Amino acid sequence: MSLLSGNPQASVGQPGQSATPSKGLYLESYGCQMNLADSEIILGSLAAHGYEPVETAAQADVVLLNTCAIREHAEQRVAQRVRQLIAERRDGRRMRIGLAGCMAQHHREKLLDEIPGLDFVVGPDGYRRLGQLLEAGEAVADVRLDQHETYADIAPRRGEGVRAWLTIMRGCNRLCTFCVVPFVRGRERSLPPEVLIEDLENIVAQGYKEVVMLGQTVNAYSYGDVDFAQLLERAAEVDGIERIRYTSPHPADMSERTIETLARTPKVSPYVHLPLQSGSDRMLSAMERGHDVDQYRRLLAKLRDAVPAIAVSTDIIVGYPGETDEDFEATSAFMEEMNFDHAFLFKYSAREGTRAFKLEETLSEDEKGARLQRLIAEQEARAARINQELLGSVTEVLVESKAKKQEGWLAGKNPQFKTVVFDPRTAAIGELVKVRIEAAGSHTLRGRQV
Ligand code: SAH
Ligand code: F3S
Repeated sequence: MSLLSGNPQASVGQPGQSATPSKGLYLESYGCQMNLADSEIILGSLAAHGYEPVETAAQADVVLLNTCAIREHAEQRVAQRVRQLIAERRDGRRMRIGLAGCMAQHHREKLLDEIPGLDFVVGPDGYRRLGQLLEAGEAVADVRLDQHETYADIAPRRGEGVRAWLTIMRGCNRLCTFCVVPFVRGRERSLPPEVLIEDLENIVAQGYKEVVMLGQTVNAYSYGDVDFAQLLERAAEVDGIERIRYTSPHPADMSERTIETLARTPKVSPYVHLPLQSGSDRMLSAMERGHDVDQYRRLLAKLRDAVPAIAVSTDIIVGYPGETDEDFEATSAFMEEMNFDHAFLFKYSAREGTRAFKLEETLSEDEKGARLQRLIAEQEARAARINQELLGSVTEVLVESKAKKQEGWLAGKNPQFKTVVFDPRTAAIGELVKVRIEAAGSHTLRGRQV
């Protein structure tokens, strides 16, 4: 579960049932889970200004795309989408159209010139002021970063489902050379533990079964003397929460205490997304990731030792400037050695403002593409092989939806965050059920409720 970008992940929030006349807000979220969680904050914040979510842009008074800046492709897609929405805006219905989030912060006011018809631009720290901003008549930008903004007092308006997002920290202090996140989301800051535990109690009261704690370096969480390990412990004490997940931890921030806590807290699911980026020490050092290959190897061994059932996924970048054949082969070999259950694989994309932006790229798009394709093929085979070993075993599934393809089947995730599609006996959405695995591919397990 990487903080992955690309597709619009969802339009969040449920259409309102309020009797008072409201203004319609149509919101699309792109990019990572953090953006989904931010969209829920936007909905919460705008509810106070009389905005209720609507299901189509055509019904809306305000159309908002919550955007991603992590790779150029993510931005190009949003630019296309917003131009399309502007073109479709009907005469006489002067809805306001705006961009929120990381791409908005990355390009700021410039977007208002580049995209004619765009009404407003708001960065990740501007959502508190969005209600006022929407009242402005002219095109406006609010792209002030605020290292104290955590939205701790704004109740997010969560969507339907079994899984709730809980942002526990915002921003990032790491400054990996390739990454735009610290520039568009600012410095690291954590939310007070009391606020988080109270929100978790609300999450349970609202019927969610699973919580995903979010942060760019989620395990760097620190507030007063409460660290990530303690926060996990406190969260596990909240009655009624079935599963606790978190993403994404940084390898260099994974403390002994956190590992011990993972080992003795069964409510924390046995799954870790541990971004690696490269299996070459030379590249890790150029990227300033803060650890080398051997430290990662030892960390994963410790995690697997502490939590034997743990599944592991990672992020990899191919084609960082200067990546040689040898560096690439080292990544391929190390991925095999680490036996990742899943990997999010990306071609390097130069981002303005980052330190790596100044470096000359040494591979063509085609060469990067070829490297990417090879890692994808290797990872697919690896995942299929790992999943095949699960045939005949019984796993616990938190049922989250109907299956997309098989009529009458249900789908959900197991503790290792693998998708399980199954033939139910008594199961209903929201329940935890046991499923025997009868077929396994690289992405999905199939089975029957036992
Ligand atoms: N701290 C976050 C990182 C967010 S970015 C996390 O751990 O999830 C998510 C992933 O996008 C990164 O791990 C990296 O693999 C990838 N990424 C970031 N910047 C990139 C760039 N400039 N080009 C290609 N991939 C990038
Ligand atoms: Fe980006 Fe590195 Fe932070 S990948 S989000 S700068 S940990």
